Amino acid sequence: MTARIIDGKAFAATVRAKVATHVAHLKETQGIIPGLAVVLVGEDPASQVYVRNKGKQTVEVGMNSYEHKLPADTSEAELLALIERLNTDPAVHGILVQLPLPDHLDSDLVINAIDPAKDVDGFHISNVGLLGTGQKSMVPCTPLGCLMMLRDQLGSLSGLNAVVVGRSNIVGKPMAQLLLRDSCTVTIAHSRTKDIEEVCRRADILVAAVGRPEMIKGSWVKPGATVIDVGINRVAAPDKGAGKTRLVGDVEFATASEVAGAITPVPGGVGPMTIACLLANTVTAACRANGLPEPEGLTA
Ligand code: GUN
Repeated sequence: MTARIIDGKAFAATVRAKVATHVAHLKETQGIIPGLAVVLVGEDPASQVYVRNKGKQTVEVGMNSYEHKLPADTSEAELLALIERLNTDPAVHGILVQLPLPDHLDSDLVINAIDPAKDVDGFHISNVGLLGTGQKSMVPCTPLGCLMMLRDQLGSLSGLNAVVVGRSNIVGKPMAQLLLRDSCTVTIAHSRTKDIEEVCRRADILVAAVGRPEMIKGSWVKPGATVIDVGINRVAAPDKGAGKTRLVGDVEFATASEVAGAITPVPGGVGPMTIACLLANTVTAACRANGLPEPEGLTA
């Protein structure tokens, strides 16, 4: 069997188009322009690229983008003061503090200072608790993107065996909560899981989010399973020339795509969905802040 390739790039474009339509509707009918504030502390090159892409895509869908770039030696008090200003600014509907923060800043403290209603990353402890208890919340962008792709591929997820490999707060845990809410039978596997290959082979839905290049082999995949690869790992590619690298996922694509029913590639799978879902969360936050109906198909 050769798996269907799930085109995350194309899917993300449809999500952005839906966001743009809703933003235009909000502007026309309410005079509201959703605004997203992104805070970057320090000069981590990868973070700078992410932040630039976020800003560009925010403007492309018709929303306002506010970028706050602070020096690496910014104090916690200064950062908290900025977050407080953004919390009370009615033009800002979403706030994202780019992670990782420099070591001298306490990420948990900073994230939990964001107004939960503006926490478009879904990392605030209140949003984590609301998601865990099945209440309306802001849902972390990467798991939300994975859920959208799974529903698009499979329709109802009810009763399916889902295995999430990885237990991070950003992906693994919220992903498991979302799958449980869609009535999957959910297993979270991780580095200490016994017989992990056997556990993975039971999965109708296999979500890989461990950050280990090509750890999950085709022999771990149940024939016909839907495989979502969240990993983005840069590895050496001597075949391309000395010093060259390439991106690979947490799944060994060449072997897994021979067994799976459908699979996301890396790059071009989950990656593009994350920013698209950030934009979706921002428009959702703007609707909620104004007591308006939420956009259809853009929430969990
Ligand atoms: N750094 C890498 N991914 C993310 C993300 O999804 N949100 C934030 N805030 N920082 C990140």
